[in-house]
Amino acid sequence: MKAKPLGPIPAGYNAKDGQLAIGGLTARELVAKAGATPAFVYSKGHLTQRVADLRAALPGNVHLNYAIKANPFAPVLQHMAGLVDGFDIASAGELKMAQDAGLDPVRISFAGPGKRDAELEAAIIAGVTLNLESENEARRALAIGDRLGVTPRLAIRVNPDFELRGSGMKMGGGAKPFGIDQDRVPALAKHIIASGAEWSGLHIFTGSQALSADALIEAQGNVLDLADELSTQIGLPLPKLNMGGGFGIPYFHGDQPVDTAAIGAALEKRMANLPANLANTYFCIELGRHLVGEAGVYLAEIVDRKESHGVIYLVTDGGLHHQLAASGNFGTVVRRNYPAAIATKFNAEPEEIANIVGCLCTPLDRLADNAELPRADVGDLVAVFCAGAYGATSSPANFLGHGPAAEILV
Ligand SMILES: Cc1ncc(COP(=O)(O)O)c(C=O)c1O
Repeated sequence: MKAKPLGPIPAGYNAKDGQLAIGGLTARELVAKAGATPAFVYSKGHLTQRVADLRAALPGNVHLNYAIKANPFAPVLQHMAGLVDGFDIASAGELKMAQDAGLDPVRISFAGPGKRDAELEAAIIAGVTLNLESENEARRALAIGDRLGVTPRLAIRVNPDFELRGSGMKMGGGAKPFGIDQDRVPALAKHIIASGAEWSGLHIFTGSQALSADALIEAQGNVLDLADELSTQIGLPLPKLNMGGGFGIPYFHGDQPVDTAAIGAALEKRMANLPANLANTYFCIELGRHLVGEAGVYLAEIVDRKESHGVIYLVTDGGLHHQLAASGNFGTVVRRNYPAAIATKFNAEPEEIANIVGCLCTPLDRLADNAELPRADVGDLVAVFCAGAYGATSSPANFLGHGPAAEILV
């Protein structure tokens, strides 16, 4: 049987006593700390390092927002609060999580289609900036502000005519449920300003999971050009520009990390030569998975080892109910392997080709196909990497009644 390559294990994961170690604890110690398998383990060290690397790469006037949809685990939010400049939320539920984590609402912006009146109201009362997704939403936000006697902070999410090339998910270019088509933005901005709301600028988020620095540089250049053009049409310098994000992480064999130094250098050049409309603008970018994805590892225990028609199956107590994306069922056309390893034999040589599967009775529940691995048995722990983003909260944890995985930050 031909082996199928595993994705690249992110930097910074080493062995201790033959086991994968995170934050100085071995895989078995981490499971003991979490209290059970399966468990998501998030590494403070990785989170801190990632933000420091980005800060070093990006110009000093480009602020960093964390999109908490990627991982809203309370200890992660608290840790990130000390590292980044702002947060992006996508629902009233995330607003509550952000508030519970003690985040200052002035540092929060709220994007996402289909905001309900109760969500708009909670955000306006809290003083969160609303990235408006439609004229209808703008009208409702203004009416709620009037009714409450509170001045809402309103920005417009723009649906630009261009897209982020090579992104895993495109959120701009052509018809989209996100944002307001760019040609309709000036009229709405003028209306918002005339209504006495706090005009909070533009949000231009074009896509997610892009690895090409060239594509990201091109998109950022287009965002800056469009922001300038729209400001001219609005007739005011721009107070704030959320330039979006889209920086990805390598999940699969052959993926290369984003060259953030190249992106930073290109942005630096643009920032040194800004048009008058953008000379005093507050700039930020908004990232989820790039900040937290590689900082998380999913640990599951092998509960059965079996063979069928000569194929080895390592059956774990985890699966797609926690790791929908790794199973290949979250927007993937062809299933490829995430980085994975036998955590209790972390530096052992591969000896066999095996399939790591979950405990759900569906053939979709696969964590690694035809992977070259050291021989593993019942009781060994499997690690799936790149589990820090869109894992625990983006998977159907209640499917088959299994319930959520444990989560710890170390
Ligand atoms: C508006 C917005 N911001 C941020 C993100 C986070 O994307 P990523 O985790 O890929 O950085 C998304 C992803 O869907 C988004 O829609």
